[in-house]
Amino acid sequence: MESPDSVVGVGRSPEAIRSPEGQLSPFEWYAEMRQETPVHFDEQRETWDVFRYEDVERVLKDHDTFTANRAFEADESSNDGDDDSPMLQTMITTDPPTQTRLRGFVDDRFQPGAIREYQPRVETVTEDLLDDLEDENSFDFVDEFAIPLPVIVIAELLGISADRRDQFKEWSDALVARPEDDTPEEIERVQREQKEAQRAMGRFFAELLEERDGGDGDDLITLAANAEELSRGEQIGFCMLLLLAGNITTTNLLTNAIWSVEEHGLTGAIRTGDVDHTQAIEETLRYRSPIQSLKRIAVEDVELHGQRIQAGDVLTLWLGAANRDPEIFDAAEEFRPERRPNRHMAFGTGVHFCLGAHLARMEADVALDRLFDRFDRLDADLSDLEPLSALYGLESLPCEVSRNA
Ligand code: HEM
Repeated sequence: MESPDSVVGVGRSPEAIRSPEGQLSPFEWYAEMRQETPVHFDEQRETWDVFRYEDVERVLKDHDTFTANRAFEADESSNDGDDDSPMLQTMITTDPPTQTRLRGFVDDRFQPGAIREYQPRVETVTEDLLDDLEDENSFDFVDEFAIPLPVIVIAELLGISADRRDQFKEWSDALVARPEDDTPEEIERVQREQKEAQRAMGRFFAELLEERDGGDGDDLITLAANAEELSRGEQIGFCMLLLLAGNITTTNLLTNAIWSVEEHGLTGAIRTGDVDHTQAIEETLRYRSPIQSLKRIAVEDVELHGQRIQAGDVLTLWLGAANRDPEIFDAAEEFRPERRPNRHMAFGTGVHFCLGAHLARMEADVALDRLFDRFDRLDADLSDLEPLSALYGLESLPCEVSRNA
């Protein structure tokens, strides 16, 4: 599989938002760029940055002109096959018709009906995690709750035993890690660790797929193993993609929801039901989108918002900026759970619209419901926030709680 850089656009941040403060709050910069240079070429990162909702939407919907396939890029250094890891094609880095084939076999399993059937299991996992916190009056929301919940859920969907979960977390962390500085040694370290994690994961899934080939289990590894339209390499790629795409994103949605609700003094109103927690999650997706940017590459010369984009140029699509575009959203910079409609693009749009969107929403819904059922007070400490090095979220979120009798 290609570097996760290609999956969610977590390459080097723009200079303007590289500081921890910029990472926590890139929104002023977005507003300025949306207004002044909505489609702008960054010489340093060699990418077009796209900020307005209508431009981001147009690029994502026009997959004939803007490919998700990084192999198209003129510089194929990430694709040089200089090691023994297999080049794994996945739905997220291909275009139709290949993308349609790679996604088709699993689409049904992520539709609302299928996800509803799985809800009781997510409720049990959530209750178990809260039981583990039974004796605590303070805990780190990220480590103790927001990280384990999605990891356990994906592992269960794939049909992977509980004792491999820590291993998963290590792999997915390595795969979305960002260099801490620009030195060649640091970049090389991160790349080396990513390749090692990829190889280890690849071997792990290859073994399980072999074991389950022809089996009748209803887990996703068996489903993939029996999908004859996919090569073994593509089946491995699918399993790795699910781990990668579904974990940190959902962790960040949970964290960003508690962060936003606390920041706006809405914790009590959520607990009493005066503010609907499902809508608060939806507004969190818009207001603090777990994935702030995506990448595409132009396959032909094209004009976008008055700029000439050339074939082979990379585009960085700022979902986080599009989701606060005042042309689309009233009071776009405000957190308003009651907002309707809420046409955010936190899950992307077009053919690559997030496969796991219903699952992520259901998990977050169950999580908030159970948290506020269990605790009659949940105070998150926002005094010393540290941005996550990958995607948009927090390293930790200390919470103090007291319980309902
Ligand atoms: C809040 C949580 C999540 C967010 C914000 C999110 C966001 C996204 C976005 C923006 C895309 C589009 C990527 C692109 O167009 O290049 C995407 C695609 C995808 N997501 Fe999610 N995601 C989340 C949770 C999940 C979960 C839980 C799963 C899996 C169980 C998942 C699996 C996928 C897959 C497989 C794709 C690729 C779809 C395709 O290319 O056809 N995501 N996600």
